[in-house]
Amino acid sequence: MSFVKDSVNKKPIVDTVFAVAAKAKEAKAQLGDDAVVNATIGSLFGEDGQLVALDCVFNSLKNMDNRSMAAYAASFTGNPDFKETVYEWVLNGNSTLAHDIIATPGGTGAVDMTISNCLDAGQTLVIPSLAWGSYNLMAEMNNINTVKYNLFEDDHFNLDSFKEACQSAMATQDRLVVIINDPCHNPSGYSLSKEEWQSVVEFLNECSKTHSVVLLNDIAYIDFSYQQEKAKEYMQTFDQISENVVVVIAFSLSKSMTSYGLRCGAAIILGKTEQAVQEVKIVFEKNARATWSNINNGAMHMFVDVIKNHKEEYNAERMKYVNLLKERSEIFVKEANEVGLKHYPYKEGFFVTLSMDNETRDAYHEALMEKHIYTVKVNQGIRVAICSLSVDKIKGLAKQMKEILDTVA
Ligand SMILES: Cc1ncc(COP(=O)(O)O)c(C=O)c1O
Repeated sequence: MSFVKDSVNKKPIVDTVFAVAAKAKEAKAQLGDDAVVNATIGSLFGEDGQLVALDCVFNSLKNMDNRSMAAYAASFTGNPDFKETVYEWVLNGNSTLAHDIIATPGGTGAVDMTISNCLDAGQTLVIPSLAWGSYNLMAEMNNINTVKYNLFEDDHFNLDSFKEACQSAMATQDRLVVIINDPCHNPSGYSLSKEEWQSVVEFLNECSKTHSVVLLNDIAYIDFSYQQEKAKEYMQTFDQISENVVVVIAFSLSKSMTSYGLRCGAAIILGKTEQAVQEVKIVFEKNARATWSNINNGAMHMFVDVIKNHKEEYNAERMKYVNLLKERSEIFVKEANEVGLKHYPYKEGFFVTLSMDNETRDAYHEALMEKHIYTVKVNQGIRVAICSLSVDKIKGLAKQMKEILDTVA
């Protein structure tokens, strides 16, 4: 007998981040800040070791009429000006497709809404084997299976593995739903080239001759791409999708605005025809009404205010941290390469991930903690959150990590 539904997995959640972060905090309290490297946190921290909260974002909220924060949103799909601003900000003129937007609680809301409404229980979702852990959990909560593609072949996107995973899902169902987390993939820091995106779209068009195809592109970290506006140009390749393909872009204010706790984001639905977009939108809108009802009105107003009235200030403030992230990653990657500390191909973003088998990873993760270096275990790797480490902490870290690795490998 059970109080919860029979079909759900009742094992407790395996939390790979917070438990290790708690150990790091404890060590800091005992040994002092200098003795500890806490590379677990996936949020942006400044050189002062504090969470970054962009001034322009939080000044906008503080200057807002209380009633704007108190009010419900204008509709279940979000405020019209928010939807328009999200579309313009994200696509930046790189799309001519039919489109609609649904405001969601963070990128999480957009990703989960797509998985749970585009696949039936028992069907299969295609995800990368090295990925943000929530994809698996979201699938599991909906009794959806996953098939995984290897993200890399040498230092580039593994198109063959991607194709194989899609084909295996298509063998048992009439629909194909795939996730690509790009640019600034979590946890590798890889971004596909425009040519790689082109090949993906060509292949999905082939698949769409026999199957309906939903491409879920998770862009949670896009505004911290080192390419900035250019990082959005790959979205032009979506213009070539066939009528039987829909693209859902999962956008998040969490990283873009450093407003993780405000829980605001959007699902941008793109299709060749208005009819395709509306079919998805109708179901997403009902899902929104049935789960979160409507989205944080203050957060939506803040986004519109920042982009419409304080864009230059926002760009300047964000760029300061984009450049800082670049500086940190360049130091870590350069030093890692010098000492032969193997990592997945990193281009940009919040994390660098060291590559190794899972047995070595487990021993290494423990050995690192003994030396008070706290990291996150991922499939076949160790994630180093350079987003939360100061330049000073990063200097010499790769060498130290290599020396520890040599004691376990
Ligand atoms: C790859 C990826 N996608 C989506 C998200 C969603 O974040 P949020 O729900 O805060 O927007 C995250 C957050 O860590 C992430 O790492």
